[in-house]
Amino acid sequence: MIDIHCHILSGVDDGSYCLSESVEMARVAVESGTTDIIATPHTNAPGIDLNAWDDSFDAALSELNSALEKDRIPLKIHPGSEIYFTPGVLQMLKTGEAMTLNRSRYFLIEFDFYSREQTILDQCEMAASSGLVPVVAHPERYAAVQEDVQTAYRMKRMGCLLQLNSGSLFGAFGRGAQAAANEMLGDTLADFIASDAHSPYMRSPFIADAHEMVSDVYSIDYSDLLFSWNPGLVLADKEIVSY
Ligand SMILES: [Fe+2]
Repeated sequence: MIDIHCHILSGVDDGSYCLSESVEMARVAVESGTTDIIATPHTNAPGIDLNAWDDSFDAALSELNSALEKDRIPLKIHPGSEIYFTPGVLQMLKTGEAMTLNRSRYFLIEFDFYSREQTILDQCEMAASSGLVPVVAHPERYAAVQEDVQTAYRMKRMGCLLQLNSGSLFGAFGRGAQAAANEMLGDTLADFIASDAHSPYMRSPFIADAHEMVSDVYSIDYSDLLFSWNPGLVLADKEIVSY
């Protein structure tokens, strides 16, 4: 499996706070059957340092990959970010300051959780106008989607792909998010499931249980599409055909 949303890079946001915690997160991910993680530190998020990708992130990424090699942990970490939408983001994407997922055409974007539906749809449209492909992080956590899951369908119509959090399937973000996630899975609206992990054990990178749940409740093929196939296309920067 390939985890496209994970705060595994240390000391750069509210995720892992040191290298040894990142290595522990990697161990948990490998136990879960994960082979690759895209590190997605917050970028442009209010309340968190403005931490757009720079050379220090490349150095932190190399340091982590070297530590994993040294400890013989079979996991590769790739560059990325979780970008909080503001109109300035379009320029940051152009200059490369806002890192896309593994430097591909896909970028992970998040919006204010409490925005009205029309605001989110307008922002989806602007994000898609970048010429790159927005992947909306955890749409099931947005109030507008919880009120009407068709909002998620409309986000896709604007040109976005949708990434659910594995924890949402088990109620980690409340019943509203859990119900919305299940509705999206039932309607095959989701394109990815990822951990959005922030530490080894709480909001963890363990996603095998979610893969098993989706396989049992929906289908093995859909589960593999969400956890492996589509994330693999992102890593390889190949086109995703969404439904
Ligand atoms: Fe995140």
